[in-house]
Amino acid sequence: MMAIEGIGRPFMEPYSRHVIVCTGDFCSPDRKGRALYAQLASLLQREDLLFGPDRVKRGETPCLGVCAGGPIVVVYPDGVWYGGVTPELLDRIVVEHLKEGRVVEEAVFHGLAT
Ligand code: FES
Repeated sequence: MMAIEGIGRPFMEPYSRHVIVCTGDFCSPDRKGRALYAQLASLLQREDLLFGPDRVKRGETPCLGVCAGGPIVVVYPDGVWYGGVTPELLDRIVVEHLKEGRVVEEAVFHGLAT
């Protein structure tokens, strides 16, 4: 729920994670990223991740600067980058990573330096 507080500064309840799907044509020329972005909405709803303290923000971008091996899906604040994401893998990412907190390690191609 978003409300305006004070002199126009926005306020919103926090998200636990932000998932960004590349919907660009270079990493996934067949527009699979767009299909994943649509699928992600229904998966978040199915797993009860749209509301409450564990809610997840879904976002799309035209490019993440990788431009190969897509579709690319990124999860923040974890800094986990998934490549070659299929509908089945996206289902696993939502259940295992977003819901249960376990990264799907075999699909990770990049992570933040720690
Ligand atoms: S088009 Fe997807 S990473 Fe550049």
